[in-house]
Amino acid sequence: MVRETRLTPENFVYPLFVCPGEGVRKEVSSMPGVFNLSVDETVKEARAAHSLGVPALILFGLPEKKDEVATGAWDENGIVQRATRAIKAEVPDMVVIGDVCLCEYMSHGHCGVVKPSSPRPLGAAVASPPVAGTEYEIVNDATLELLSRTSVSLARAGIDIIAPSDMMDGRVAAIRKALDQARFEKTPILSYAAKFASAFYGPFREAADSTPQFGDRRSYQMDGANTREAMREIALDIEEGADMIMVKPAMPYLDVIAAARGRFDVPVAAYQVSGEYAMIEAASRNNWIDRDRVIMESLTSIRRAGASIILTYYAKDAARLLD
Ligand code: PBG
Repeated sequence: MVRETRLTPENFVYPLFVCPGEGVRKEVSSMPGVFNLSVDETVKEARAAHSLGVPALILFGLPEKKDEVATGAWDENGIVQRATRAIKAEVPDMVVIGDVCLCEYMSHGHCGVVKPSSPRPLGAAVASPPVAGTEYEIVNDATLELLSRTSVSLARAGIDIIAPSDMMDGRVAAIRKALDQARFEKTPILSYAAKFASAFYGPFREAADSTPQFGDRRSYQMDGANTREAMREIALDIEEGADMIMVKPAMPYLDVIAAARGRFDVPVAAYQVSGEYAMIEAASRNNWIDRDRVIMESLTSIRRAGASIILTYYAKDAARLLD
């Protein structure tokens, strides 16, 4: 009766990694208990989560092929598009969120289009494989077009919510416009608005096979030292049309979640990322911590900080613990 913070499975979004093939269930070595799943296995996992009361999934794709224009991200028969159609056919009540980013689909592993910095060396049109001694940059506005195309293609496949995680400037406005033009004016946008350049994403990059082949993401993801800048990023995304916003990672940025909750009147989501999961798993496998209690304590803290939506690899485990 006196408890101030409540956690229910309805708070959870369960991230899944879809890969090619059939009957594939390949464990991610740095994330025990998390798998690369073929479409048929993804549907099974969706059903299992649904029966535990988890209302939503977020899908990441491992395409058959990567290239310099992220074809796998916006292809009508892309891996996430196929998984979405299959889930929607079999578990229609499940809310399916599409993570919109290009890093899993680009041969160089960056979240945007890459070109050599000007002055461009003669003949160096694209960046992969990188030419030694050349500097590269992410081309913000050329990326927006691919993100928009990806979003429309996901909406056509039946995705319920578009969640851009690339951190390009102006992408929420571009995606909103593209969705509206394609008659998806009712499809909401959950923007990864305050996404920090974090070492906690390490295991995800193994899971999604999206490690940048050169450089890092610090030119587009945020500096973890900056709360005010995070507020500005969130305000811009809301102005551009974001219906919900996200702070990511969660545990090292609980203060940013609380600040966002206090300042903005849209639903606030937080992502308990791969590194947070990996730390809890590693310590509990050594019997250094009580796994179940740490799971619940970590999720309760994220709720207490103010997030009503929590993306967590523990969605199923925590739903079971709450039951
Ligand atoms: C794609 C993306 C990343 C994560 C979610 N979307 C990786 C990154 O930015 O490098 C990380 C999620 C996690 O670590 O669990 N850009």
